[in-house]
Amino acid sequence: MPDSSRMDAEKIKKNLHPLRLGSKILVFDTLDSTNDQARRSLKEGAQEGLVLIAESQTKGRGRMGRTWVSPPQTGIYLSVILKPPIEPEHLPQLTLLAGVAVVQAVNKFTHTKAQLKWPNDILLNGKKLSGILSEYDAAPNGEKAVIIGIGVNANHSPADFPQELLPFATSLKIETGQAIDRLALAAVLLGHLDREYHAYLKDGIPAILKKWMQHSDMFGEKITVTKAGSVIHGTATKLDDNGRLLIRTANGEELALDSGEVSLGSNSPKA
Ligand code: BTN
Repeated sequence: MPDSSRMDAEKIKKNLHPLRLGSKILVFDTLDSTNDQARRSLKEGAQEGLVLIAESQTKGRGRMGRTWVSPPQTGIYLSVILKPPIEPEHLPQLTLLAGVAVVQAVNKFTHTKAQLKWPNDILLNGKKLSGILSEYDAAPNGEKAVIIGIGVNANHSPADFPQELLPFATSLKIETGQAIDRLALAAVLLGHLDREYHAYLKDGIPAILKKWMQHSDMFGEKITVTKAGSVIHGTATKLDDNGRLLIRTANGEELALDSGEVSLGSNSPKA
């Protein structure tokens, strides 16, 4: 069900005190994908910190070619353009940073205990609530940019999800029983993202890694990772500086994974 908290750039900006992002916010009724719009905006010379928000997406994209369900006026669908002065191998750090910002914002705004699942899912009560799609691009002058796309299932009802996703996907409304003011949550989220990004550029990744691990229940636990068709069992130990997941296998070997699908315990992940 659409809610009445329509996205409005000026209202969101009233609640922000931009350090690095959010001085310019563009709201669209419908986009193919806010990440695709961000690429177009970059070509047209967009500055760091531009925020693009859509009320609905016709081609919302998730990781690994999946579709991101984006019904009108129901979720938060936004992308932010960043141009951090960092080496390419450190770009995955931005995805971790965004995950920290989302989980902080959601938990503060709704008094829930959402959790991070590596590499970039936000789960509530074990089901997926939010996802992050980071993509790398360059401005026409060659300047590197990262596009952080964030989707939050806010006011989705079960009928908004395809049947096959229902066991794995949820929304804030489903979990809390209350409709969410999407505009207010978007402003809180952008505020967290802005402050974490500002601190990251000043102090580096250690604080982000610490917060990320505090918001995840997988460390010290047995996990299963499915990667390129193979299944790896082990205990999650920590994240390294490049955002890789370190796991210790039963024979004591330490592996650093840069991608994969994680599930707690020894079952294979399904979503
Ligand atoms: C995932 O978990 O698979 C990532 C989902 C990311 C969805 C967001 S919604 C806003 C932005 N635009 C997109 O097309 N995708 C991201």
